[in-house]
Amino acid sequence: MKQQIKEQIAEYLGEPAVADKIFVFEELDSTNGEAKRRIRDGAASGTVILANHQTAGRGRMGRSFYSPKDSGIYFSMILRPNLPTEELVQITTAASVAVCRAVRTVCGAELSIKWVNDLYQNGKKVCGILAEAVGSAVILGIGINCTTRFDGELAKIAGSLNLQSERKKICLIAELIRQIGGLEDAMINQNWQEEYRSRSMLIGKTVFIVAEPETDYTVLGIGEKGELCLADQEGRSRILNSGEVSIRLRDGMK
Ligand code: BTN
Repeated sequence: MKQQIKEQIAEYLGEPAVADKIFVFEELDSTNGEAKRRIRDGAASGTVILANHQTAGRGRMGRSFYSPKDSGIYFSMILRPNLPTEELVQITTAASVAVCRAVRTVCGAELSIKWVNDLYQNGKKVCGILAEAVGSAVILGIGINCTTRFDGELAKIAGSLNLQSERKKICLIAELIRQIGGLEDAMINQNWQEEYRSRSMLIGKTVFIVAEPETDYTVLGIGEKGELCLADQEGRSRILNSGEVSIRLRDGMK
């Protein structure tokens, strides 16, 4: 990954100083890992870590995130938000909307959100988001498959945006910085929740919890705090508060 992309991103945003907060690597274990190390060294809010390749890209629930070179955007941004703890939890949901907005601006594509924060296009996951808290700082780690090719079982569930142009990739990174950097304001103004719901691919569908595959639930909606509201076949309600459970659509999506 070329160092001059820092300046190209700053030029796109019309903010030369942004370049000083961007750190570009050819290879890292994980951009979130590097962000963690930098938080311990006092990195400022708005610091961005980019890598062309991750050797140990991490996903939610202890999964790995496939991060081959020259094919995806592997991005982490450090935020030090001034938000009450209960609102901090919602930063993950707000980040999903922020990434959808960035992709729409640059690629003209409308992504769907699978609760909590997996982004899909044409029924395949094209982007994952891993939010991690380190003290009062938050790392938003975003992995976007631009041209990544998947084999075997993975090819059934994962896809790519088919974003070939290097120029457009730089624009997308810049839009991510604009959108993720503006998250705190977006959360204060609450102008992301309706969009989150309208992009949700689960509302109204029949799903099951992977750990309890015998029970079907209908997804009623998404609550004020980003929780998933379900009803079982007898009409009993169940609320899922965190993404630490895996949900699948009964009709086949993984
Ligand atoms: C998921 O799908 O469960 C979340 C995947 C998040 C992947 C991104 S890539 C950049 C950042 N660094 C990581 O190690 N993970 C996130």
